[in-house]
Amino acid sequence: MSQLVFFLGKGGVGKTTLSAATAFALSRQGRKVLIASLDPAHNLGDIFGIRLRNEPMPVADGLDGIEVDVAEWVARYLDESRREIKANYAYSMSLNLDSLLDILKYAPGTEEYAVLWAIEHVHRTHADTHDTIVFDTPPTALALRFLAMPSLSILWTRALAKLRGQILAKRQTLLRVNPDAPVPKGAIDKREDRVYGKLTSIQTRLHALHDLFIRESYLTVVMNPDELSLAESLRIREELDRLGLTLRSVCLNKAVPAAAIPKGLAEHFKDFPVFVSDLRPGGIRGLQGLAQVDICGLVRHIGSL
Ligand SMILES: Nc1ncnc2c1ncn2[C@@H]1O[C@H](COP(=O)(O)OP(=O)(O)O)[C@@H](O)[C@H]1O
Ligand SMILES: [Mg+2]
Repeated sequence: MSQLVFFLGKGGVGKTTLSAATAFALSRQGRKVLIASLDPAHNLGDIFGIRLRNEPMPVADGLDGIEVDVAEWVARYLDESRREIKANYAYSMSLNLDSLLDILKYAPGTEEYAVLWAIEHVHRTHADTHDTIVFDTPPTALALRFLAMPSLSILWTRALAKLRGQILAKRQTLLRVNPDAPVPKGAIDKREDRVYGKLTSIQTRLHALHDLFIRESYLTVVMNPDELSLAESLRIREELDRLGLTLRSVCLNKAVPAAAIPKGLAEHFKDFPVFVSDLRPGGIRGLQGLAQVDICGLVRHIGSL
């Protein structure tokens, strides 16, 4: 049984709706489920007809919901960075910390990291109490970037750790030649160096997250019967391939009732299970609406892995 479930796809295809329907269906099978929205434009609560918050609250029997406050995670990440920079670079008076943090706030990657640490936190705090965590992901671009973050960051933290190791080795050489050399205390041995320690601990966390995405996550892509969402789904599949992540299935949502599976979809995704949910003209609202979404095939597939 996959512990985590992620719905990917273009905006508006029905990720939030299918996440909610799937989470609800899993909970009705007797699983303890948490549904967590990572989309900063939260609309998960609207579907259930309740106001969700940054803390889990009961939505139905066996189903809890949470809207993760991504902005708070960005603030937390910046705050942590501020404390670390201050602690490690206190000697560097020329460093203008505030302007550096302003840059960091809008730097590429900041929001992805925040989302990543939020997932880590949600998983760590709820894996023991819930069988499955369904994530309602943010729009495609960000979703793929946070999935890419662990493998990308492992590369650069590895390079940085190597560099730091070289600096420490040079300091040791320097001290051997001249025991009075002005070398910072506690920053000679890898085991005692804070920077090296920090890099190693980030690497451990990133590896764990990458493992989580590879081993314990069910990734599915949602599309509609139109060319644009098919193109986006193909792009997502390629991107996941590149990241070494496995796409498990395709959900065709808002399908024309009783129509055949669109040719392009059948052709390009012939090796994947395709689960179809029909277009419901009245829209989908509330637990009653969600219960009517045809999601059995997907739910069975998630349960079978
Ligand atoms: N099968 C469906 N039939 C009819 N309306 C749907 C269906 N799936 C989703 N919708 C509607 O489409 C809109 C976008 O769905 P949503 O789940 O918010 O997409 P996303 O999270 O991918 O942006 C919402 O108004 C939702 O109610
Ligand atoms: Mg959504």
